[in-house]
Amino acid sequence: MHDKLIIFDTTLRDGEQSPGASMTRDEKVRIARALERLKVDVIEAGFPAASPGDFEAVQAVARTIKDSRVCGLARALDRDIDRAGEALKDAQRARIHTFIATSPIHMRHKLQMSPDQVVEYAVKAVRRARQYTDDVEFSPEDAGRSEEDFLCRILEAVIDAGATTLNIPDTVGYAFPEQFGHMIGRLIERIPNSDKAVFSVHCHNDLGLAVANSLAAVLHGARQVECTINGLGERAGNAALEEIVMAVRTRKDIFPCHTNIETREIVACSKLVSSITGFPIQPNKAIVGANAFAHESGIHQDGVLKSRETYEIMSAEDVGWSTNRMVLGKHSGRNAFRTRMQELGIEFASEEELNSVFQRFKVLADKKHEIFDEDLQALITEAGAEAEDERVKLVALRVCSETGEIPHAQVTIKVDNEERTGTSSGGGAVDASLKAIESLLHTDTALTLYSVNNITSGTDAQGEVTVRLEKGGRIVNGQGADTDIVIASAKAYVNAVNKLLAPIQRTHPQVGDV
Ligand code: KIV
Ligand code: ZN
Repeated sequence: MHDKLIIFDTTLRDGEQSPGASMTRDEKVRIARALERLKVDVIEAGFPAASPGDFEAVQAVARTIKDSRVCGLARALDRDIDRAGEALKDAQRARIHTFIATSPIHMRHKLQMSPDQVVEYAVKAVRRARQYTDDVEFSPEDAGRSEEDFLCRILEAVIDAGATTLNIPDTVGYAFPEQFGHMIGRLIERIPNSDKAVFSVHCHNDLGLAVANSLAAVLHGARQVECTINGLGERAGNAALEEIVMAVRTRKDIFPCHTNIETREIVACSKLVSSITGFPIQPNKAIVGANAFAHESGIHQDGVLKSRETYEIMSAEDVGWSTNRMVLGKHSGRNAFRTRMQELGIEFASEEELNSVFQRFKVLADKKHEIFDEDLQALITEAGAEAEDERVKLVALRVCSETGEIPHAQVTIKVDNEERTGTSSGGGAVDASLKAIESLLHTDTALTLYSVNNITSGTDAQGEVTVRLEKGGRIVNGQGADTDIVIASAKAYVNAVNKLLAPIQRTHPQVGDV
């Protein structure tokens, strides 16, 4: 028997719950398009009841995506389900995912509900969701620490109420592969109407076991895995989509199932998510890390040159590593630019928008002769950030850095259209520049992360800088890209400050009364 394994991507929902990874509506649409090119079966686009912004983002994804199913998360509350139903109204194919916690610890302390009440809420929520779509997923939150008999009871009841997918989350990353796999097998066996639903898993990576737990569940009958690009997600993250997909594909001898994923799109999608969220990919990360297919030691290189299979179980091309082609250059015209952007899934709302990004492209092409897809994506990210009514803008930066001298920076910014200029010295050119900006803004934030990645290779590559700022418990990531990393750093800092200045009022789906 060779089944289809449904790939449910939750980068835009659980991934976005990583501190600092919040995305704008347009960024979500760009990632959703990349996920569609990757041919994921279901895209969980967000939690519409969280805020008007989240609602609009889910609605925009639902209106854009044609091939994948679009899903919205809802607590087991009428108002959440109605918001999700409304946000998904225009989707080609919609799913509502509703959940309620089922572990004794969550029911007692978080919900303050009896098990009977929890079953009642779950059944009512599934019935209400069915009024909007016939594709309804139910999750017993914290299933990994729930009692098996209670899980059987609630899952049987929600299938009767119309749930078509039952997702078993290991919310706190507590499960262990053998135990979790057997639990899934027993649930499928014990629930009398289990044949009427697809069993799914959603594993968190607190013990580094999210992928192993998900795969163990697949071996015991789960036919949907919830995962995220690069393993992004709450706390230590979720199971990494690229690892699940490539494990199932590489070990066909073990897994009685296959996915529909277009694996050659994996690397491009991974880079896009990293660039938009500002979460860098560690070099030794499986599949998508820069070193995942690099052979350093002499013995390995010799073996790989004689026959690739000696040390490689997958090919770099199969996951999209070799598709980093030079697409445009200094002499490329607007049409070539527009065409390549369309191929990358980027649509411009107007000719003015196209012209403005094209001007940025020309400036970049003057500094850097070969423009790769990743450079184009970075241009869009930057243009998008600036378009969003940023209160602070970087106007000019001048840095003096000389051997034996203390680096010095002079910066001019606009704050609500008022120009300010400040200077500072620092330990290095970047330090001096960020201090000069801070001397004008007095944000009083803690800089908790500063990282630089080269977007492509070569000394003329754009450096992509991420800074993470923290203030009063709120965490934001800012990004900036430039062929000059000092300027990229200043852009990233200003971007992060703008995010901190933007008011947000969002409900976290898993914190609160239900
Ligand atoms: O981790 C979790 O339990 C979740 C649910 C909302 C499915 O993200
Ligand atoms: Zn989760």
